Amino acid sequence: MTSRVHGSQPILIRGVRPYGEGEPVDVLVSDGQIAEVGAGLTPPDDADVVDARGQVLLPGFVDLHTHLREPGREYAEDIETGSAAAALGGYTAVFAMANTDPVADTAVVTDHVWHRGQQVGLVDVHPVGAVTVGLKGKQLTEMGLMAAGVGQVRMFSDDGVCVDDPLVMRRALEYATGLGVLIAQHAEEPRLTVGAVAHEGPNAARLGLAGWPRAAEESIVARDALLARDAGARVHICHASTVGTVELIRWAKEQGISITAEVTPHHLLLDDARLADYDGRNRVNPPLREADDAIALRQALADGVIDCVATDHAPHAEHEKMCEFASARPGMLGLQTALSVVVQTMVQPGLLTWRDVARVMSEAPAAIVGLPDQGRPLEVGEPANLTVVDPDTEWTVTGRTLASRSDNTPYEAMTLPATVTLTLLRGRVTAREGKSGLADEGQREAKRDRA
Ligand code: DOR
Ligand code: ZN
Repeated sequence: MTSRVHGSQPILIRGVRPYGEGEPVDVLVSDGQIAEVGAGLTPPDDADVVDARGQVLLPGFVDLHTHLREPGREYAEDIETGSAAAALGGYTAVFAMANTDPVADTAVVTDHVWHRGQQVGLVDVHPVGAVTVGLKGKQLTEMGLMAAGVGQVRMFSDDGVCVDDPLVMRRALEYATGLGVLIAQHAEEPRLTVGAVAHEGPNAARLGLAGWPRAAEESIVARDALLARDAGARVHICHASTVGTVELIRWAKEQGISITAEVTPHHLLLDDARLADYDGRNRVNPPLREADDAIALRQALADGVIDCVATDHAPHAEHEKMCEFASARPGMLGLQTALSVVVQTMVQPGLLTWRDVARVMSEAPAAIVGLPDQGRPLEVGEPANLTVVDPDTEWTVTGRTLASRSDNTPYEAMTLPATVTLTLLRGRVTAREGKSGLADEGQREAKRDRA
């Protein structure tokens, strides 16, 4: 299959404010790089001129946590539909989690994911390798072979499940340190979450839903911080969801432990009060917590205790979500709504500036995994991995018009602020005004017909 993105025509982005700061400038992109920045630039004759007056220029977003379902569950998402969703959400790099079928526990699978992402060409799809064979938590994978493959795996995770055996986790951290790769933990003590479908608290009790205590997450966060300390290793905490996790990460960082953490947009915005109608779209792991947890997570992201935003984009088909709450598969779409949720929860209340948005959605995640060409300064000579955002618009979310093959957004019918108007990957347009660079947008038409 051929690459489906535009050629390397020069692009002049007119009247945009880098990081939302200072006077508007024109930004000329050519040959995959930022070629010129200044007021009143004269575009080359063949340039594509984009009117971006009043808009904000940011480095392309980097998502450390996305589930693209390929191989194995392409009925819910594949690398092509997930890449389109990513580009439309302003992402230029995503990390595809290993809980596929087969599991990404060998270089055969991780190399496929990388190749397929490059073929589609809308976003760099970096494969995440599994920590343990088959995600079974017993035997470490050949991390070195995956790291040395063409997919150059930089991050390993059993996400979906926790590496719960402390000795296995300790060995994984030691092994990863030697290889210079990152272990990302889905912190969930499985003995405390047997049968759990909702946050353990008054809401779950009232609704008759089996509860998932905060301690299931926090006990693993604490344990892994100590294991990382002793191994001299780095550890990354996926989808932090509780007040206690925030306090533990703060403590660990104060001790000098190499720990980083992400928060999802849904844990910033939503809480378990939403479960009252038993809508399966609100089921997610870790579960939506209480309003005070969301407040603590926002503050922690603002303070830098939590390093970055990651979507945990988790597509599921209609039959897997529109069913009894306890039978619904956990997970929510996130790629196309992440920026808007961050604007609503963080920018509008004054917790983050646009400069900070560049940090938490691009620079920090790129640094955590050591991506050399992402999260770069908006300066001449830098690779043109860029996102343009219109901060003064709003839009109403409808699952069936999202680019993902699945519809399971928790924000259905909600009106959210800010839209991504342009995404560039190495200077090529991958999304513009709500259309992805996919030549064939038939997928979205098919979704509309079905609905
Ligand atoms: O809600 C979730 N969905 N949490 C996870 O950890 C895995 C993910 C999935 O793969 O659907
Ligand atoms: Zn997870």
